Amino acid sequence: MRLIVTDGADAAGHAAAELLAERITRAPKFRLGVATGSSPESTYRHLAALLPPRPHAIELFALDEYIGLPRGHAQSYEETLKQGIASLLNLDLGSVHVPDAWHSDPTAAGLRYDALLANHGGIDLQILGIGANGHIGFNEPFSEFGSRTRRVALTEETRRANSRFFATVDQVPTYAMTQGISNILAASAVLLIATGQHKPDALVAAIEGPIAWACPASALQLHRDVTVVCDSAAASSLTQTIPTPPARRQGANNVRLR
Ligand code: GLP
Repeated sequence: MRLIVTDGADAAGHAAAELLAERITRAPKFRLGVATGSSPESTYRHLAALLPPRPHAIELFALDEYIGLPRGHAQSYEETLKQGIASLLNLDLGSVHVPDAWHSDPTAAGLRYDALLANHGGIDLQILGIGANGHIGFNEPFSEFGSRTRRVALTEETRRANSRFFATVDQVPTYAMTQGISNILAASAVLLIATGQHKPDALVAAIEGPIAWACPASALQLHRDVTVVCDSAAASSLTQTIPTPPARRQGANNVRLR
């Protein structure tokens, strides 16, 4: 695992974008798993500036989607991917894939999304944020590590945290479709971006704590290619891990234990 700690959220976005651009430009086509939320926002902006200004052979796969918002709702993740990320990266809308949260049968929709991921050959790199409760995607605490794309209930903590994107907390959906933890672990590489003062506890539990269902992000300790990029606020409670020095950022396994 590599840990990169920057001064400030924007610098974290830049560091994450550099890593992404390096991987994307050396591949003829790239299947990018994208997270929404505030943490990766500046990453997408910096990535757009780092990639050459031509349509890239990038396919975007959403991690999750709210259930219950009308199609085209500004807070649906499909719209975020289409109007935000795909448009920034100058990608065709046909390259955007989102779990079908509008399907009348969520189980069938989950299976269909898992099949779509498999038919595309899997995700080359999965971008993740982390919830203050350690969730990844919408895999809330005690999600099974073997879980796949499915319908989940959101915790009140998550609904409250995400209410900043809605007029009131009552407007935040209570269910969502999310890729499961085993989908996330199946990606060839994972890039976790954590910024801000609400993340230290979650980050400690994820990367220094035991691998436990109580912290879904701790499952990432089982993955072979994980980079964590965070700002100093999010990193403020880490005690055992030491950030990768700049010159060694490209190397593997260079987080040392004290
Ligand atoms: C939402 C998303 C997650 C995201 C999390 C953290 O719940 N479903 O994928 O990681 O929020 O978001 P933020 O980066 O805004 O704190």
